[in-house]
Amino acid sequence: MKRGWYSGRVFPRLVQWSMGQAGFIPLRQSLVSQASGLVLEIGFGTGANFSYYPSQIHSLTAIDPNPGMIPMARSLQEEAVIPVHLALGSAEALPFPSSSFDTVVSTMTLCSVPLPSNALQELLRVLRPGGRFLFLEHGQSPDRSVRLWQDGLTPVWKHLGDGCHLNRPMVQMIQTQGWTVTALENFYLPGVPKAFAYFSQGMAVKA
Ligand SMILES: C[S@@+](CC[C@H](N)C(=O)[O-])C[C@H]1O[C@@H](n2cnc3c(N)ncnc32)[C@H](O)[C@@H]1O
Repeated sequence: MKRGWYSGRVFPRLVQWSMGQAGFIPLRQSLVSQASGLVLEIGFGTGANFSYYPSQIHSLTAIDPNPGMIPMARSLQEEAVIPVHLALGSAEALPFPSSSFDTVVSTMTLCSVPLPSNALQELLRVLRPGGRFLFLEHGQSPDRSVRLWQDGLTPVWKHLGDGCHLNRPMVQMIQTQGWTVTALENFYLPGVPKAFAYFSQGMAVKA
């Protein structure tokens, strides 16, 4: 897909700055340290998770539709202690066989995927039975006043954030697509305006 100048050139640098904030590091570490076996990460961005995967995983395949992310992801790919295979493509149409991964990972990506329900179905397809989905996502707040801000800001924010929605009900979306959520923590990230800061971190299992 052809990308404009903002999406292909400017947005990757914004992702590098915003997603590289120190507050995310312990969250990334605690999430991806639980990965095992053959791992798929959707929406790799600048590769901010690559260095936190445990050395015991078999390999990491990471997919993102934005070729502008590749140069930054390449340098972190080279530093990673695990084999990382980069692929260009969308989570809604994964170019991988069914039941081919043990773990799938998504951090701050389901907010931006145009068709999140299709992506969640694709993740179920490529994961082996009993496989795990590790997620760290921001989304719709349970607080009404915050939700009003999220609903008001999203029409503008999604242009600045290359498709990012502030108001997706993340856990509900995951559960209604047939996943069993087995671990979950919801919280506001400190130091960030609440409309952008309601996070859900957890694990879901394919039955
Ligand atoms: C806010 S960035 C997060 C990047 C990275 N996951 C992180 O934690 O730093 C959102 C990412 O989702 C990617 N993305 C957007 N649409 C996607 C899709 N349909 N499938 C997979 N990734 C997608 C974007 O290209 C971008 O890299």
